[in-house]
Amino acid sequence: MTQDSKGGTRKFTAVILAAGKGTRMKSPLPKVLHPVAGVPMILRAIHSLQASGASEIRLVVGHGQSLVRQVVESTGVQCFEQKEQLGTAHAVTCAKVEDLEGEVLVMNGDHPLITPDDIRNLLQSFRELKADVAVVTAIVKKPGDLGRIVRQKNELKAIVEARDASSDTLKIREINTGLYLVKSEVLKKLLPDIKNENTKGEYYLTDLILLAQEEGYSIQALRASPRVAHGVNQQSELAKASLYIYRQKAKKLMEEGVLMINPKAVYIEESVTVGPGSVIYPNVFLRGKTKIGSFSVLEPQVFISDSIIGQSVQIRQGTYIEKTEVKNHCTLGPYARLRPETVLEDEVHIGNFVELKKTKMGKKSKAGHLAYLGDAEIGEECNIGCGVITVNYSVEKEKHKTKIGDRVFVGSDVQLMAPIEIGHDAILGAGSTITKSVPEKALAVSRAKQVVIENYQSRKKSHQQEE
Ligand code: UD1
Ligand code: CA
Repeated sequence: MTQDSKGGTRKFTAVILAAGKGTRMKSPLPKVLHPVAGVPMILRAIHSLQASGASEIRLVVGHGQSLVRQVVESTGVQCFEQKEQLGTAHAVTCAKVEDLEGEVLVMNGDHPLITPDDIRNLLQSFRELKADVAVVTAIVKKPGDLGRIVRQKNELKAIVEARDASSDTLKIREINTGLYLVKSEVLKKLLPDIKNENTKGEYYLTDLILLAQEEGYSIQALRASPRVAHGVNQQSELAKASLYIYRQKAKKLMEEGVLMINPKAVYIEESVTVGPGSVIYPNVFLRGKTKIGSFSVLEPQVFISDSIIGQSVQIRQGTYIEKTEVKNHCTLGPYARLRPETVLEDEVHIGNFVELKKTKMGKKSKAGHLAYLGDAEIGEECNIGCGVITVNYSVEKEKHKTKIGDRVFVGSDVQLMAPIEIGHDAILGAGSTITKSVPEKALAVSRAKQVVIENYQSRKKSHQQEE
């Protein structure tokens, strides 16, 4: 529902057209599922409509519909099948327009940059102008194969598809964005009269304008920004839409005090937050529910998704982090990998080529080089040497836990055969394969005694001469 000028609420239903194949995308994925800055195009359209107050959203699906239905399921929109793609007007018919009331907003599912504000503003203009039907237009630099808006004495006359247009009409730079507002009673009346007499033999929704005009309804062309007109029909347009969102996000973060060396080369999704004073180097990707505290530094090629990073965390080049929590003053990388369900307390140090999975590390603990720590609970102030491995995966294909107390020194190249527990202040000698739990303050070493054969080289020589 939306508020009208008299303070009352009005019902407006949105119909999104998303049954087309998207042939020009040349991709096996249904067009509307292609992500724009991490969010499938169709979800962007749905979220914008929901935020703008649509009472109901109807989605027309066809090509790849089982996948599309799955992706939109959680949004609560209603899906309607268009069995054969006979054109945009036919697609609207499939949304069971008979039972619609109030105002109807029809939009193409492939315009990912439309915001809730755009929709609210258009609806307001539609109401103020007391229009019966309106098409949303924009003036663009390259109109390409978009439908052209033909005006006469500034009044909207017709929408002509590029493929049906004369060379003069093709010169027009005002185009149809594929977004329409129409009173439900007008839509119900005119939709059945649309014919498919055009070069493609399709039922064009654009013909609604012509019919409305013939019937004496009030028709309007509402001008919007070229951003609204940005449709995605091919991969280059998809990339352009994503880059637009990333640039906007970078701009917003800089306004909030985030430092960037090159804002054109950072890829931060809209859902991410970054605290002021943090520095983002080029080629950093931040995705999903990620939150970065203030004064943290993210060096080049850092990739973080759905993770919480505290304050003053130094993340060096090439570090990959998923579903992890890193508290304050930690240093990570270069080239560290933190896999899901990892939690690092304050001042933890994870160095190069260290992988952690489902592992907790207590305050001030360190794993500086080349280690694998999985399904482990490590206490405070531990030192995990180079090449240490928690052997968590058994021949029975089960995962086992390693528990290490506080201030434990794990020498280099130690294997911990889980399940295993190491008490506080224990020392594990370098090169040991630890198969049994170790009590507090103990030293555990397990390696073959060293054998030294004196003067081995000359003894070997004389042995060979004797033969
Ligand atoms: C359409 C408009 C054009 C406008 C452009 C803006 C028509 C005839 N032309 O052209 O004036 O400038 O959008 O992007 O409407 N769809 C269906 N079922 C169908 C056909 C299409 O659901 O039978 C859906 C598609 O999935 C897509 C949308 O409708 O989301 C638009 O279809 P598309 O083929 O991309 O239309 P355009 O040629 O871009
Ligand atoms: Ca299109």
